[in-house]
Amino acid sequence: MRHFISIADLDRAEALAVLDTAEQMAATQSRSIRKLPTLVGTTVVNLFMEDSTRTRISFEAAAKRLSADVINFSAKGSSLSKGESLKDTALTLQAMGADAVIVRSPSSGAAHLLAHAGWIDQPIINAGDGRHEHPTQAMLDAFTLRRHLTEGDPAGQDLAGRHVVIVGDVLHSRVARSNVLLLSMLGARVTLVAPPSLVPVGHGAWPCEVLYDLDEAIALAPDAVMMLRVQRERMIGGGFFPTPEEYSRRFCLTTERAARLPEHAIVMHPGPMNRGFEIAGDVADSERSVIVEQVGNGVSVRMAVLYHLLASTPQEG
Ligand code: NCD
Repeated sequence: MRHFISIADLDRAEALAVLDTAEQMAATQSRSIRKLPTLVGTTVVNLFMEDSTRTRISFEAAAKRLSADVINFSAKGSSLSKGESLKDTALTLQAMGADAVIVRSPSSGAAHLLAHAGWIDQPIINAGDGRHEHPTQAMLDAFTLRRHLTEGDPAGQDLAGRHVVIVGDVLHSRVARSNVLLLSMLGARVTLVAPPSLVPVGHGAWPCEVLYDLDEAIALAPDAVMMLRVQRERMIGGGFFPTPEEYSRRFCLTTERAARLPEHAIVMHPGPMNRGFEIAGDVADSERSVIVEQVGNGVSVRMAVLYHLLASTPQEG
């Protein structure tokens, strides 16, 4: 793996290797000194052209725990907001000696362009590009699922036979896209649940099932339910559902719906959440919720991704 733009950059064995490294990274995080010297002398740039809380902070923490220097570059307050192109930004980062660039952009394909246009030679990590992919989020979700749904030591294990239901605005969700690819590669059964207007055209080719009724999906007794935010900022023109109340009535994970899940089932959300809209506050704070844990796991998983890209033996590809 030279860049990490899409889940398709990994095969099953590589995905499991990164998850296993993340377990080792997580083990170092309970020591009294959490910093590892692995990336001393390297500079990692966080290039964020779209708002982010969890992902940006988590990449920053991951790089710092590996002793890299971190430069945070956000669109607001930089020349990007004056209309500078991605190319000129890339050339600037290259000239400054960045060893890896983590990029978030509202444009699907931005990370791919940065990796393959020839402006910058260093590894590129996609931290979310438009509606396309968010591969490190899917990795941290798989890591969290593996910890809860496999027996004993999660190392080396996949998610064969587990059933994950992903609910909400699938159309605009890079999290859903990356998760469908990764979880199915790891052997899980994936079911998407959304109103027909929020399911992408062409989903028939995806390795998952699609349902339009949350109650029907809950009756299948899934092992995990992952709720998605309705991404209003990407709903140009509107008209995706009649009213917010109608959406919430049909697709909110209410306390009553959560009570119908199997006892062992976990509830996930990548954040940011709209409490009371796609998920009841009580469900988000309940015993079965692993939402806060997902954030913590994000640091270990991103440490593992940085390690595989920057510290292990370079490979062509
Ligand atoms: C998601 C994202 O930005 O794609 N959040 C995240 O990375 N934790 C999901 C969202 O914005 O709803």
